[in-house]
Amino acid sequence: MSEAVPTVKLVIVTGKGGVGKTSVAAALAQAHAKSGRRVLVALCNVKESLSGLLGSEPIDWQVRRVAQNIWGVNMDPERCVEEYGAMTLHSKALFALLFNNKFLRTFLRAIPGLHEWAMLGKVWWHTTELRENGAFAYDLVILDAPATGHGLDMLRVPKVIVEVVPPGILRRDAEKAWALFQDPLRCQVVVVTVPEEMPTTETLELAGAMQGELRIPVGRLVINSVSAPLFSQAERAAVGAEVPVFPGSEGLLAGGLRAAARERCERETRQAHQMKRLAEGLNLPTTYLPLLPDGAATPEAIGVLAKRFLEAWLR
Ligand SMILES: Nc1ncnc2c1ncn2[C@@H]1O[C@H](COP(=O)(O)OP(=O)(O)O)[C@@H](O)[C@H]1O
Ligand SMILES: [Mg+2]
Repeated sequence: MSEAVPTVKLVIVTGKGGVGKTSVAAALAQAHAKSGRRVLVALCNVKESLSGLLGSEPIDWQVRRVAQNIWGVNMDPERCVEEYGAMTLHSKALFALLFNNKFLRTFLRAIPGLHEWAMLGKVWWHTTELRENGAFAYDLVILDAPATGHGLDMLRVPKVIVEVVPPGILRRDAEKAWALFQDPLRCQVVVVTVPEEMPTTETLELAGAMQGELRIPVGRLVINSVSAPLFSQAERAAVGAEVPVFPGSEGLLAGGLRAAARERCERETRQAHQMKRLAEGLNLPTTYLPLLPDGAATPEAIGVLAKRFLEAWLR
């Protein structure tokens, strides 16, 4: 493991929808679990796919063990509010009494950001949770955060609480959570993208908003679904120049094969261009994950990505 990793308590995985955030969260969990760390993966009220990626029973609102050294939870915002309320009022019964009141429920729902804060607060709390023996329940909590805009909205909530809410329990907790999110030694924000134009543009904006407006440092960029370069420069030139790649291949490369080869070359060029934009625009430590031909929806496929993390980041 690299030197900075052991102190990290929270990893926030974010990025555009569909780029592979959940796959990355699962792969990171596997990689850390393999290194002997106890990992909790927290999902934000999603139609969850993580259990399929880790080969477990479905993951619901209750924390449960999903694989060796890995626990999972799919946070339900209302239950999080309830948990938070019970914790701050020190009485589940009292909170249930209040929470089950129809008017209070409607009132609570109308507070902007309450659900987001309840989920973030729960995540923060799990980073501090202790077992009976006094050891931390988890060495690392991985938050599979909502996609770009919603993720930013979510992280904005504790900042707003810290800035505008009068001193009290709520602000005290938000201050602790906010301090964690802003501390690059304890919290690592991982931005996931794919090397295509739109996701790259969105990633540059997302990282800009995180580091600028929110002042939450981004620790790492993960470029997912990278196609390995298939052709040498000479082969690329040959395909582009419409001359046979090798003597006697005229027939082979005459039709579809040549077109496919050229298309692939062009895709690699576009991909390289987006990777250059990301490198120049962000200047972040970067992990590259391969495009897996059969997708990333099985524990075995996630294992391949986890291995990349172990080789190229978490050594
Ligand atoms: N490296 C990869 N190679 C191939 N398919 C991938 C890869 N990473 C993710 N996928 C696939 O892309 C889709 C979206 O991934 P997912 O992790 O659910 O994205 P997100 O959580 O960002 O919405 C899934 O079908 C997943 O299996
Ligand atoms: Mg997801």
